[in-house]
Parts: sequence; structure tokens; C-alpha cells
Amino acid sequence: MQDILYREPGRLISTIKTIVLPVDGSRNAARAATVAFELAEMMGAKLLIVHVVDLGAVQQVAKSSGSDFLSALQQYVTNGNKLLDGYKSAASGYKLQTELILERGEPSDKIVHVANERKADIIVIGSQGLGREDRTHIGGTTDLVTHKAGCAVLIVK
Ligand SMILES: Nc1ncnc2c1ncn2[C@@H]1O[C@H](COP(=O)(O)OP(=O)(O)OP(=O)(O)O)[C@@H](O)[C@H]1O
Ligand SMILES: [Mg+2]
Repeated sequence: MQDILYREPGRLISTIKTIVLPVDGSRNAARAATVAFELAEMMGAKLLIVHVVDLGAVQQVAKSSGSDFLSALQQYVTNGNKLLDGYKSAASGYKLQTELILERGEPSDKIVHVANERKADIIVIGSQGLGREDRTHIGGTTDLVTHKAGCAVLIVK
């Protein structure tokens, strides 16, 4: 019979120093933000708030609206920076250090890239996002992030 592993050696929660919070402006991301703010404050951890401008989405929007890619991208970047500023103000009621990160590319790839590069201990992410409201399953970004991440992932519903 295979040995049962009852516990991962070491400590995973009390050693958290860096938290990644990926945000898209959705209700679930807002709930994930509340959890991440509390966790960062409790642990004295740094909070990296990440938004990824989805280049695939930009391309689609540019194509369907007949506008050029660069002006569509500029609009997404402007909106993304506003979004990040909003989360920063939302965090101001907590005692924590935040850093805003705007990336461009495929969201799950970039979220995991930031987590790896910054040696994050945990990613706190919403279970769903701005996609279909009637969805019964976990969102595609969260599904891929849990699959690709090298650290713990906390999914907030
Ligand atoms: N572009 C993004 N940048 C940063 N975080 C994101 C981005 N998109 C989604 N997220 C994060 O992932 C969570 C789940 O969103 P996800 O995109 O997986 O679900 P969905 O939009 O409902 O589904 P889908 O995108 O598959 O249609 C969000 O609550 C947010 O935390
Ligand atoms: Mg989505």
C-alpha cells in the first residue's frame, strides 16, 4: 500500500511574505481582494495586485469594431491602470504594503509568471470573473492558474 502523507512538512500559512492578487473588476475578484487584504495585513506580507490586459481580447475587440489594434490596446491599458488604482484605494483601510502590476498577454500565463518571478507564497483569486453570469464551473483563468502555479492558490467564491 502507498504511504499516506498526512501533512506537508514545514509551515505554509505563517511564512507567507508575498501574496499575488489577480483582479479583473468582477464581484468575485472583489471578494478575493477582501481576503487578500486581510491576509496581507495579518501576515505583514507584501501584496502584489495584478491585472493582465488580455491581448487576445484586445485583438478581437479591435477586429469586431474595425479600430486599429494599438488604439484598442491603449484603451485597455488606460482602463487597467484605473482598475488597479481603484483596488489600491480599496486597500487603504488596511495596514499593508501594495504594489500595482499591469501585464499584457494571456492572463493565466502572466499571473503565474509574476508569482514565480516574485517568489510569491500564495495566489488569492476569484472563482469566477467577468465571463458568463450563468456559469456553473470555475472560470477559465482560475482553472489554468491552479494548474500552472507553483505555489498555493486560494480560490474565493
Ligand atoms: N485579465 C485578468 N487579470 C487579472 N486577473 C484576472 C483576469 N481575468 C480574471 N482574473 C482573475 O480570475 C478570476 C476568475 O476569472 P475567470 O476569467 O477565470 O472567470 P470568468 O471570466 O467567469 O470565465 P472566462 O474568462 O473563462 O469566461 C477573477 O475573479 C480574477 O481574480
Ligand atoms: Mg474571465
